[in-house]
Amino acid sequence: MKIVHVLGTRPNFVKMAPLIAALSRRMPESDQLIVHTGQHYDRLMSEIFFEQLGVPAPDFMLEVGSGSHAQQTARVMERLEPLLVENRPDLVVVPGDVNSTVAAALTAVKLDIPVAHLEAGLRSYDRTMPEEINRIVTDQISDILWVHSEEALRNLELEGIPAERAHFVGNTMIDSLVALQDRFRPLEQCRQYGLEPGSYLLVTLHRPALVDGPLLFEAVAALNRVSTMMPVLFPVHPRTRARLAGNAELSGNLHLVEPAGYLEFLSLESDAGAVLTDSGGIQEETSYLGVPCFTLRGNTERPVTIELGTNVLLGLDPARINEIPTIIAGKDPSAPPPEPPPLWDGQAADRIAGQLAESV
Ligand code: UD1
Ligand code: UDP
Repeated sequence: MKIVHVLGTRPNFVKMAPLIAALSRRMPESDQLIVHTGQHYDRLMSEIFFEQLGVPAPDFMLEVGSGSHAQQTARVMERLEPLLVENRPDLVVVPGDVNSTVAAALTAVKLDIPVAHLEAGLRSYDRTMPEEINRIVTDQISDILWVHSEEALRNLELEGIPAERAHFVGNTMIDSLVALQDRFRPLEQCRQYGLEPGSYLLVTLHRPALVDGPLLFEAVAALNRVSTMMPVLFPVHPRTRARLAGNAELSGNLHLVEPAGYLEFLSLESDAGAVLTDSGGIQEETSYLGVPCFTLRGNTERPVTIELGTNVLLGLDPARINEIPTIIAGKDPSAPPPEPPPLWDGQAADRIAGQLAESV
């Protein structure tokens, strides 16, 4: 079986690493090719994930870089098509919900090549989010849908996607975290910034709805206030860095730093007193780690994290950041963390590889 994996962004690398490894183990005779679209390209957004997660170097680099949605999507399609024509895989695997995902799925399906979508079925029911469009389109045209939660199965059913296409396999992003526990747990990366484990608020913000307008500066103002009560560490995504560009006033206890490597970030996350984010993946990781998470968005495509009790949806309202110190002060630190959702157990990729191996 010849499989082409198409990856392009930071969360894609985390989701795909365990699957590529599991397929090599379970189907050693298969031929796996890795295509990096180049949607993310800074070393701290790309290369470091290949190194730390042990993903083989890409076989093809499309180097699409940044651009408008249409430019990025079109460049992936134009550059991927000849490669798929020449290599004619039996399956193209696409993860997540980024522009590279939908572009690769569209390209493959029009060449009559089956597509498998990893992390299918998530819905925020907010079509102003670019990712929501990418999810809907990718799920509709994929032949195999690997889902990580029961709510995702329901979303697919509501859209009329035949049940036999969807497979509840678990969460490969959690597989990556579990696989690296022995390496990130002892790191205590926070000490590099002079911070004590459990004492600080870790922040990541990168969604256009928040960072591409004035809300970003309201969020920074609220973080300045919170930092008088607890130190704030904010590894800044490049989109956000470009928007801040020296325009924000920072107090002494609000630390803006480069994006963290994956191991370093997991260490910061697991040792945080709380996390403030608009990331999809970080809502999941904090749920697994049992770290209180506050999501600065109006909705989430991951309601399972809210039901679990680890994640609080603050709304798209930076003023609510001010509530975080009081909320976490009211939590019982000795309360045991909740059980992770079903099949968030470190074995998802192995389940997928087992199913694929049986199907050939
Ligand atoms: C993309 C995904 C988003 C995902 C996020 C993960 C889409 C529509 N968005 O958002 O769903 O949550 O990745 O991080 O696919 N930039 C750099 N260096 C890089 C990459 C980006 O400087 O290596 C800067 C550029 O100025 C670029 C901007 O960040 O214009 C945004 O990058 P882009 O890939 O378009 O979207 P993200 O915001 O990263
Ligand atoms: N991450 C990281 N360094 C950082 C921020 C995030 O390694 O500075 C990891 C995080 O642990 C998770 C993934 O990147 O595995 C989430 O990516 P991101 O928030 O960019 O995308 P999203 O999940 O929102 O699509």
